[in-house]
Amino acid sequence: MLGVCYYPEHWPEDWWAEDARRMREAGISHVRIGEFAWSRYEPRRGQFDWGWLDRAVETLGAAGLKVVLGTPTCTPPKWVVDDNPDMIPYDEQGRPRGFGSRRHYTFSSEDYWRESRRIVEILCARYGNNPHIVGWQTDNEYGCHDTILSWGQTDLKTFQRWLRTRYQSPQQLNAAWGNAFWSMDVQEFEQVSLPNLAVTETNPAAKLDFWRFHSEQVAAYNRMQCDIIRAHSPGRWITHNMMGFFNDFDHWAVGDDIDFASWDSYPVGFTERFPFSEEDHVRWAETGHPDIAPFFNDLYRCIGRGRYWVMELQPGPVNWAAWNPVPKPGMIRIFTWEALAHGAEVVSYFRWRQAVSGQEQMHAGLNLPGLHEWSQGGREALQVGRELQDIGPLPPSGKASVAIVYDYEASWITRIQPQGRDFDFAELMFRWYEAVRRLGLDVDFVRPGADLAGYKLVLVPTMPHVSHAAERAFSEADGLVLYGPRTGSKTRHHAIPPQLAPGPLAPLVKARVLEVSSMRPGLTQGIDGEITGAAIRWRELLDVLGAETLARFQDGAPALIASGNHHYLACWPNMDLLGSLMDVMTAKAGLPSMDLPDGIRIRRRGSLLFAFNYSSTPWRLPVAGRLLIGTQDVGSQELTILNME
Ligand code: GAL
Repeated sequence: MLGVCYYPEHWPEDWWAEDARRMREAGISHVRIGEFAWSRYEPRRGQFDWGWLDRAVETLGAAGLKVVLGTPTCTPPKWVVDDNPDMIPYDEQGRPRGFGSRRHYTFSSEDYWRESRRIVEILCARYGNNPHIVGWQTDNEYGCHDTILSWGQTDLKTFQRWLRTRYQSPQQLNAAWGNAFWSMDVQEFEQVSLPNLAVTETNPAAKLDFWRFHSEQVAAYNRMQCDIIRAHSPGRWITHNMMGFFNDFDHWAVGDDIDFASWDSYPVGFTERFPFSEEDHVRWAETGHPDIAPFFNDLYRCIGRGRYWVMELQPGPVNWAAWNPVPKPGMIRIFTWEALAHGAEVVSYFRWRQAVSGQEQMHAGLNLPGLHEWSQGGREALQVGRELQDIGPLPPSGKASVAIVYDYEASWITRIQPQGRDFDFAELMFRWYEAVRRLGLDVDFVRPGADLAGYKLVLVPTMPHVSHAAERAFSEADGLVLYGPRTGSKTRHHAIPPQLAPGPLAPLVKARVLEVSSMRPGLTQGIDGEITGAAIRWRELLDVLGAETLARFQDGAPALIASGNHHYLACWPNMDLLGSLMDVMTAKAGLPSMDLPDGIRIRRRGSLLFAFNYSSTPWRLPVAGRLLIGTQDVGSQELTILNME
């Protein structure tokens, strides 16, 4: 199904009915509204103007559209900020981040919690039983514009309280954080300071707890909104729109409280921001890299326990990357079908019509700025609408045979203590995913500690802190498990484990790490054996305690080892090594793989097989089935769907 994000408050009221009619004509079934509209329905405290929103919901609903209503807490109006100076977030340099854009609140502010409860209650009491409203979106993109961590006095006070509950006594906190180092002991919780603005680096254990504290607050804040919505709006679902390449809070935890996950997909913008080589940037500039959107389609499907939406999809150029090219003709259709192939229930475009004023006036919509006239993206959405109607309902998507463990704490730990400047968690995860997808395989992401039964291959690109639950899940895995560098290298309190890395996994892996070396660009170490290629960025010196060595560094030290089904890779692999590693691991796991060209990707949903061509040369699909869309030769910026039944 298709959806769209619509802002009735931006357009004359006598346009709404025509907009709704054209949405239906395009095959759009769902429309998300309201997430930024607070100042328009409560211009002053307690003075409400609901008329326009009532009429907007009614107009959209009367046209047959299902309405998704956003809670408006991401854009508190000026009067809310003036009444609650405590809600203002602070950046790491200690500067206030004031009114004038959005997300100007800290999750630590009790005052802002009170304001949020109040407006969400009022909104839900009014619209909770409205027959046109089918679901809710909480807030908008928690953390967008770097707004999870906040460094003000309100945050400090709340953090101190959180520490008191967690550690009970300052002595226990001192012990956990290793505060004997540099005389950092505290005698009262009130002596704990924010882990910023010190002369040099602050204690990594304190920073890790500061991150956990903020992450828990996000989940609690979201849960507060969910509880209110559920109380007032029976039978409606709740989602939150999450982001790509964003790891600042534990999305699995927020996922627990919503009915399904959704995310905002901007494949061309994300490609521009990703640290690709210059050559790759140019190559993928107008199509997006073929794994960028799929990565998050898979991640959020799994965070949503099998259910997800794309709440916002780029319909043309965005306004926020360094360069914002128009996607090549055909790409908006590919992005839409690709999300559907990965299991999306609804793909909703951001936005219906390009704005003519405000910060996002250079951001494309399905309609040209201020007009009732389709853009290129709009025409492609129309095409998908027709194709969806022809194909009918899509089958459920099944379980993949490869799982990647995605650990948000791993992102925090490797950012708190990178040790090598380019040890980038997001890049490592992406590259491992890409290497599997280039073999034509489907991927699930799993939460640390989740049951791994049924996966033939489990990948753990990095996971410095391995909890008891995660350790148990790994030891019970029935498929092959491959751990990457730094796995098991830290305790819960960011200390080096007593038995050295890989800590609790040492008995499974049968080795320990004696030394790590981060390598500046230009330094490499060749690797040979069952896999070939080179280590870049990072390598480890292993002390093998019973494992078998499958490949060695040039200097003879073990690079890839195995003990039973457990494998450990002691470096950051370059692309050759990663390709060779995934060839070997998938073969060992008995997975049927294909060698896909760079710009081709495959995905299965039930009995359907989808092939997408991002490249400039046609590709002949080497498998046969009943053609539903496209031809056996998949043209550039084209897709083919086969029914394999
Ligand atoms: C998203 C956000 C939208 C809009 C969009 C522009 O991050 O949720 O409100 O700003 O980006 O691409």
